[in-house]
Formats: sequence, structure tokens, C-alpha cells
Amino acid sequence: MSRAFAGIHAINDASFRVEAGAVTALIGPNGAGKSTMCSVISGFLRPDRGSVLYDGEEIVGCSPHRLAARGLLRTFQTSSEFPRLTVTENLLAGARADRGTTLIGALLGRRYWIAEERANLERARVLLMSFELLNVADQMAGMLSGGQKRLVELMRAIMARPRFLVLDEPLAGIHPATVESVIAAIQRLRSDGVTVLMIEHNLGVVERICDRVIVMANGSVIANGRMHELRQNPEVIDAYFGN
Ligand SMILES: Nc1ncnc2c1ncn2[C@@H]1O[C@H](COP(=O)(O)OP(=O)(O)O)[C@@H](O)[C@H]1O
Ligand SMILES: [Mg+2]
Repeated sequence: MSRAFAGIHAINDASFRVEAGAVTALIGPNGAGKSTMCSVISGFLRPDRGSVLYDGEEIVGCSPHRLAARGLLRTFQTSSEFPRLTVTENLLAGARADRGTTLIGALLGRRYWIAEERANLERARVLLMSFELLNVADQMAGMLSGGQKRLVELMRAIMARPRFLVLDEPLAGIHPATVESVIAAIQRLRSDGVTVLMIEHNLGVVERICDRVIVMANGSVIANGRMHELRQNPEVIDAYFGN
């Protein structure tokens, strides 16, 4: 894949594969092209050249909305909550109401919807509890702290029952006391079989929760493997660990 912005090669012939069911870290210095990569994968940006295969199918050109309906969700480096909805409403908005479009949903009608809404509310409560945010459940999301807004975004993505979740720096701006809850949430996603690709700067965290690591620098993938392998890679040491 390649993608340039006004002559800057944000992504320059980068290629990698993300293993299904694993947590993969995308690391690299600022400006390496990591966020751009996430935007292309999730349909928010078109590449100039290249291809993104999801389950073996080309998805370049698919809208983020369509990809989300297929289970490919992403969160942003900066939060994007609905500020005038409550925290709970934000979470419910994330839940995919796809039952209504199925035949059984149409046949069963209102009763079915109410059951689904109740189940989603329960899931939202469990998530809010896991991040110790139950006390802000009925507050406007726009009133939350920066870190709490990022958690709302993460919870909203989880509510959508993703199959492949792309997280752009999920721990950035999160209160230290909550970092472990986010890590636990990612580990729960993995045990539920969700594939995760996450941009993360803290290599200790990467080592703890990621199965594989992709290293980008200057728009290219310079290494791809397990953390302990990468620590021995001179190119990676130069680009990332060096200073
Ligand atoms: N929308 C944009 N317009 C212009 N330049 C951009 C845009 N998005 C990213 N870039 C540039 O592309 C390069 C890669 O950026 P980015 O993907 O955000 O890197 P990372 O997430 O690894 O820090 C940087 O030089 C950045 O300035
Ligand atoms: Mg970035």
C-alpha cells in the first residue's frame, strides 16, 4: 500500500498481514504512517496504490459504515463521541441493530427489538462497570474528561461486536488507574476471538498483551515479528529503540 499527502509519502509500499484472533501491535516513531495505515484499513482513507484484504476480500473502496457492518471497526487517536448524547446512549449507538433487518427480526417485530435493546443496555452496563464509569452513565458524553471520552469510544466499538478491531493508541490520555482496565478489555476481546490491531507506544504494554509486532518507519514496514525477536533487530533498534 502507498499513500501520499502533498508529496509526503505517509505510506510507502508498506505491506503486512494481521493474524486472525491475535493482538498485533503497530509501533514506530511519530510520523511513521501508523494512523494513516489504520485509516486506509478501516475505509476512512483511500490508498494511492495497493490493496487491503479482509477475509481474503478486497475492501479498498468500501465505506467505513459498510466495513463496520462486516465487523471491521476502528477507534481514532482523538476521541469522536456524540457529545450531546449520554454515555449510555453513545454505547447503544455503537451496538449494531442488525436484527431488525433480518427476516426473523421483521417477523417478531417490536417484542424482538425490546429484547435486543434490553440486552444491549445490560452489555453497556457491564462495560461501564468494567471501566468504573457507571457513575457517569447518564451524563452527556461531551462533559467527560479527555480520557473518559476515549473510553467511551472504545466501549462503543466493543458494543458493535467487532471481529477485527483497529485501535489507534487506545491507552493515550487514559488515567493511569484505568490503564489496566483497558488492557483487560483488550485481553477479553482476544479471548472472545476478536482480531486486534493496535498502535501503541509503550513497549512494556506491547510485550505484555501483543502476540506480534509490526514496526513502521518512514512509511514502510521495517520489521514484523515477536517483540523479543525485534529487540535483536539492528534496523528496529536504530529506528525505534535508538536515542
Ligand atoms: N491528512 C493529512 N494531511 C497531510 N499530511 C498528513 C495527513 N495525515 C498524515 N499526514 C502526514 O503523513 C505522515 C504520517 O502520519 P501518521 O500516519 O499520522 O503517522 P503516525 O500515526 O505514525 O504518527 C506524517 O508526515 C504526517 O504529517
Ligand atoms: Mg498516529
